[in-house]
Amino acid sequence: MIRTPTSRAEAQELDRTDALAPKTEGFNLPEGITYLVGHSLGPPPATAQTRLLEAQADWATGLVRSWNSAGWIDLAERTGERLAALIGAPAGDVIVTDNVSVNLFKLAAAALPHARRYALFVEEDEFPTDQYIAAGLGGLSGAEVRLLPPGGSFDALTAGGVLIKSAVNYRSSEVADMAAHEREAQRHGALIVWDLSHATGVLDLHLASDGARLAAGCTYKYLNGGPGAPAFVYAAQEIAAKLVTPLPGWMGHNAPFAFDSQYTPRGGATRFASGTPPILSLAAFSGALDVFEGVALPDLQSKARALGAIAIARAQGMGLAVLSPIEDAARGGHVSVRIAEGYPVVQALAARGVLADFRAPDTVRFGFSPLFLRYAQVWDALDVLDEILTSRSWDAPEFHARAKVT
Ligand SMILES: Cc1ncc(COP(=O)(O)O)c(C=O)c1O
Repeated sequence: MIRTPTSRAEAQELDRTDALAPKTEGFNLPEGITYLVGHSLGPPPATAQTRLLEAQADWATGLVRSWNSAGWIDLAERTGERLAALIGAPAGDVIVTDNVSVNLFKLAAAALPHARRYALFVEEDEFPTDQYIAAGLGGLSGAEVRLLPPGGSFDALTAGGVLIKSAVNYRSSEVADMAAHEREAQRHGALIVWDLSHATGVLDLHLASDGARLAAGCTYKYLNGGPGAPAFVYAAQEIAAKLVTPLPGWMGHNAPFAFDSQYTPRGGATRFASGTPPILSLAAFSGALDVFEGVALPDLQSKARALGAIAIARAQGMGLAVLSPIEDAARGGHVSVRIAEGYPVVQALAARGVLADFRAPDTVRFGFSPLFLRYAQVWDALDVLDEILTSRSWDAPEFHARAKVT
C-alpha cells in the first residue's frame, strides 16, 4: 500500500519513485490541464491516434480489400484477446462489440433461461442504463424485474435469477466482492452479468479466478479507447457455448461469408458479436491498449487508490462529505464528494484547468487514471478546489449556465 502524502513535497517524492510515471509521455494532453475525468472519457494515447490514422489510410488505399489485407475482419476478436489480459480472463473469452447497454441486454437475455428463476434483479442506485435494460428486457421477455435497495444484490442471489451488477458503482466508487457474489450465485442457481465499465483499466481484476461467468464493460473510460469506442463482452467458456444471443447478427455467425440462412453461432464469447464492427473506433482502441503493455495491474490499482486517498484526505480537510469508501480496498478509481453547488463548482474548476464531472443532484466526481496523472498534480488540483470553495468564485453567473453534458 502506498502511504498517503500529507504535503506537496511528499507527493513529489511519490512521483520520483512512481513506476508508472514514464507512461505519462504516451498521452497527448493539452498543456495546463489536470485531467480528472479519465473515468468518463480517457484522453487519447499517442498510439491510439497513430492507429486511427493507419486505419484511415487503409480505408483510402486498401478500400474493401482492407477487410482482409489490414485484418479488419478479425480486429474485434484480436482486440478482445488483448483486453482479456486486463480483466484476468482467458484470451478467447472476450469480444469487442456494440456498446455496454446492448451488451448487457444480450447477456442478460441469454442468461435468463439458465437461471433458476426467470427474473432480473438490479439495484436502484445502479447506472441508469443497467436499470433501463433490465426493465426493457423484462417487458419483452415476461421475466419478473425486481429493483433492489442499494447494496441489496448479495442477499437477492438466494432467489436465483439474473443480477445485473457493477463491479464499481458509478457514483460512489464502491467495489463489489466479485468472488463472494459468484460463490453465492452458484449456490442458488443465480447468474450475474457484471458491468465492468468503471473497473476495467484501473483495478486488478481476476474474472476467471473469481468465478465470473458473464460481463460487459466500456473501453472509453480508463482504457482510453476514444469517444464511443466499442464495448466488450466476456463470457466464460463453460457457459458461453450454451448461450443463445437474442441479437444473432451475421458477425456472430460461425461462417458469415457462407451466407447461410441457417444461424450457426460462433464458439464461445465471439457469438455475442452482432453486426459490422466500427473499424475506425476499434483501431483507435486497439492502439490505446498499447499503453498498457508492461503494466502490472496491481501497480495500476494501488496508484489509483493512492491518488484517490489524497483527494479524500484533502476533501475531508475542507469539510466536504465524501461519498466514496474511505478504505482503499473498497474503492475503485474515482472519488465522489457531495457539494450542493456541484455544477458551478465543476465549471469553476474547468476554468482553472482542472477537469472533473458532476452527477446530479449533488455529486462531484474526480477520476484517478494512474497512467497519466502525477501525485503532485492531484495535490495541486485539490488546492484549486479549496481556493474556489473558500473564495466562492464558483458563484459567478457564467458557471451556472447548464450544458447538455455535465
Ligand atoms: C457503469 C456504466 N454502465 C453503462 C454505461 C453506459 O455505457 P454505453 O453508453 O456504452 O451503453 C456507463 C456509461 O458511462 C456506465 O458508467
